[in-house]
Amino acid sequence: MPRVLVVDDETSVRESLRMLLKGDCDVVTADGAEAGLRTLAEMPVDLVLLDLVMPGKSGLDFLAELHERGDGPPVIVLTATKTVDTAVEAMKLGAADYVTKPFEVEALRHKIRQALELRALAHEVRRLTDELEERDRLGALVGRSEPMRAVFHTLERVARSPATVLIQGESGTGKELAARAIHDLGSRAGGPFVAVNCAAIPENLMESELFGHERGAFTGAQDQRIGRFESAAGGTLFLDEIGELGPTHQAKLLRAIQERSIERLGGSKTIPVDVRIVAATNRDLRHAVAEGSFREDLFHRINVVPLRMPPLRERQGDVPLLAAGFLQAARGEFGAGPTRFERGAMAALERYPWPGNVRELENAVQHAVALCDGDAVTRADLPEAIVAAGRTEALREDVREGRLGFENAVARFEGELIREALARLDGNQTKAAEALGITRRVLKIKMDRYGIEPE
Ligand SMILES: Nc1ncnc2c1ncn2[C@@H]1O[C@H](COP(=O)(O)OP(=O)(O)OP(=O)(O)O)[C@@H](O)[C@H]1O
Ligand SMILES: [Mg+2]
Repeated sequence: MPRVLVVDDETSVRESLRMLLKGDCDVVTADGAEAGLRTLAEMPVDLVLLDLVMPGKSGLDFLAELHERGDGPPVIVLTATKTVDTAVEAMKLGAADYVTKPFEVEALRHKIRQALELRALAHEVRRLTDELEERDRLGALVGRSEPMRAVFHTLERVARSPATVLIQGESGTGKELAARAIHDLGSRAGGPFVAVNCAAIPENLMESELFGHERGAFTGAQDQRIGRFESAAGGTLFLDEIGELGPTHQAKLLRAIQERSIERLGGSKTIPVDVRIVAATNRDLRHAVAEGSFREDLFHRINVVPLRMPPLRERQGDVPLLAAGFLQAARGEFGAGPTRFERGAMAALERYPWPGNVRELENAVQHAVALCDGDAVTRADLPEAIVAAGRTEALREDVREGRLGFENAVARFEGELIREALARLDGNQTKAAEALGITRRVLKIKMDRYGIEPE
């Protein structure tokens, strides 16, 4: 039930309004502007019925204060007939409506209903726009599927905490974007975001990379150098591909995380560092722990909040949204290009299982935009592997749904394989036969049967 606050100094008015609205609204009352404002601070109120002339703070003062705070409930002003001018003043201060005293019951009910409906509508519009804005993307991450919404939800919550996060997911699922989102949405956003790719740094340089070194720490260390831990102070240290870290460095990293301090290589000082750690890997770290290649204690240290990035094939519904975004971006980069996807091209994208995840989709769209010379991307503009996978999937569907018999489907599939091999090998029949593991003679017979013209 909507809650209505009646602010009037006259007991009789308060009581008659309470009687009038009983059953439709939950009525609370206040005998003056001060008391009314206090009530508003204490509980959610959907509508205010406000007397203008009251001892002490007037109704207009009340309105002015409410207006200043913004986002308050709508106000219907109650006024004696003689003071319509004041009512106009009240409307200027943001009152939704006014009724003159003594009020007609039906007219008042009607106005109350109207104001409440308007408010409910405004709320609904706000909720929907919020949902649209929030749910389509988070930072640079795009998606609106259930699995991505769940990821966004976790990201938002975890960003606000200082907890260490371990992001796991297949290659190209957006682990790095997720790490950046955690940094950008959190309280350390003003600090540095420092990424270390543990797979790309040679074993013998790792320690100095992470912790820095003093001058003369090893041959070639001519100057003192600050490590990534220290550079990330006050911000976030992103340890990418952490599964690739060797055993020595796992031990050193564990110590740094536990002690919240480091020692530079060749140095004797212990330097406290304030960093938030986000780690990522495309390996199954639990499995690595079981296997003995990753330290269990380090695993638990970093796996405080686990975040799994879902592979694209588990959220195929995001493909059109992502593809549209990449099309826009590619157009921006090339300065021109297609503005949309033909239906067949989009169907092929939606069917493909995306082993390379979002990165593969991004590349496919860039490839298509580069090749496309019309206004819409066609299937022919897409990488061959995607179109081919789409064709066999379409065949399967035709069989499943009874549009195509078994024999015909197999024949069609044979034909596809042969066309593909020929296309890939510039029409060279000897090579195509070899690639397919059949003789030249059999290839020729099948080409005749399926009406495939030699080049
Ligand atoms: N949800 C997404 N929305 C938009 N772009 C995305 C999304 N996920 C990934 N990408 C894009 O895909 C590419 C790969 O993303 P990213 O580098 O974050 O993946 P990764 O999981 O770190 O991959 P890898 O394990 O190979 O390092 C990037 O170009 C990124 O911009
Ligand atoms: Mg990555």
